[in-house]
Amino acid sequence: MTAAEYRRRRRRLVAAVGPTGIALLPAASESVRNRDVCYPYRQDSDFSYVTGFPEPEALAVLVPGRKKGELVVFCRPCDAEREQWEGARAGVDGVRRDFGAATAYPIARLDKVMPRLLENRDRVYYPVGVDPEFDRRLMRWVGVVRGKARAGIRAPTEFVVLERLLSEQRLRKSRAERALMRRAARISAAAHRRVMRLCRPGLWEYQLEAEFVETCTARGGRFQAYPPIVGSGANACVLHYVDNRRRLEDGDLVLIDAGCELAGYASDITRTLPVNGRFSPPQRALYELVLAAQEAAIAKAIPGNRWHDMHKAAVRTLTAGLAELGILKGGSRAVPKLIKKEKYKPYFMHRTGHWLGMDVHDVGDYRVDGKWRRLEPGMVLTVEPGLYIPADRTEVPARYRNLGIRIEDDILITPEGNEVLSARAPKTVADIESCMSGGKPPVPGATETGDKNHGRGNDRILED
Ligand code: GLY
Ligand code: MN
Ligand code: MN
Repeated sequence: MTAAEYRRRRRRLVAAVGPTGIALLPAASESVRNRDVCYPYRQDSDFSYVTGFPEPEALAVLVPGRKKGELVVFCRPCDAEREQWEGARAGVDGVRRDFGAATAYPIARLDKVMPRLLENRDRVYYPVGVDPEFDRRLMRWVGVVRGKARAGIRAPTEFVVLERLLSEQRLRKSRAERALMRRAARISAAAHRRVMRLCRPGLWEYQLEAEFVETCTARGGRFQAYPPIVGSGANACVLHYVDNRRRLEDGDLVLIDAGCELAGYASDITRTLPVNGRFSPPQRALYELVLAAQEAAIAKAIPGNRWHDMHKAAVRTLTAGLAELGILKGGSRAVPKLIKKEKYKPYFMHRTGHWLGMDVHDVGDYRVDGKWRRLEPGMVLTVEPGLYIPADRTEVPARYRNLGIRIEDDILITPEGNEVLSARAPKTVADIESCMSGGKPPVPGATETGDKNHGRGNDRILED
């Protein structure tokens, strides 16, 4: 992302904040995993969107109309001893030089400097209620400003959630963002193809996860946008299953919902595979139905259509198909009533998609002025219908039970219609079966230890 793009983003934010407002954007905190170990650090998306600054313990302040420059950043100062252990810091000079700050202070000066910046500002935009300690600290600064009332200094009177201002901007992706998201989706698509070639009975779910992550990492997608979901058999019916430690059995389907994050932008792709490389007739019937629903929904992902049109198309296709297969009763004439009574919901209980961007479930309202939002070029979203029929759904013919299927693609709305960013991940029955039969690569590091599949919770340690 160029410096000019960050400047453009800040200009728009300043315009939205207005001449007597001020915006405060805290960096994400580090979070402890156990004792001296932290979770991998991920910068807050809004903070990153506005500054590009990757370090924790920082606060960005946008002060519209400030004579010395509108961006003030508080950050960790350079510290040779700490940097010896933890790596380089930008420091106050670096943040001015490389991140567009007009003024920078060591973070320890926050309580001294902030009251001054808040003087004569009426409205403070910040992430209200997200971090109670930050809320309290802000109120202390405001208290200091109030103490200057007799000197003719006004203190802020309104405190407004910042997210709404940025989410409208973040919802429409710039050319550079679109290019990044295309690359992220292509890396993830390559990883899905790799998993398809590797998949076979006897492997463990986490081996597919490892292969997926390794392929992304090797191509520059160093982080996953969310923990990979690799659910085989009954696990495919658990929407956000992340245990990933069951052994794949001949005759199972396996659902893989995984996507890398590239330079802070997410991809989010799901493919469902027959573990042995061939869909059985009932698996195929359900799979083709989900695919038809997904394609019907993608056809509705065009400028001018409303957000809900995609979900409606998916529901209509799925309900008609379930009626045709005899899973829902009443035949094709009953379809409108089955939809009205939401009879599909036990098998398709989530919505058809979400916005995608820096966050996998990205910001942006789905309804505007009481109506579903209209799609515009530059928006990116997922389309991900599914069918989930666990073993205990005894009202469903036995051949369709124990199957979970989801197909998810990343869609960029374009002036002409849409672009499927994740199109390189095979998804027709023929393409998946052909990819899976394309010569099995060896499983890196795997030496069979001959243990039995005891289902979830049975950990295995690979021999060297
Ligand atoms: N991977 C989470 C989702 O599809 O929404
Ligand atoms: Mn998704
Ligand atoms: Mn997903």
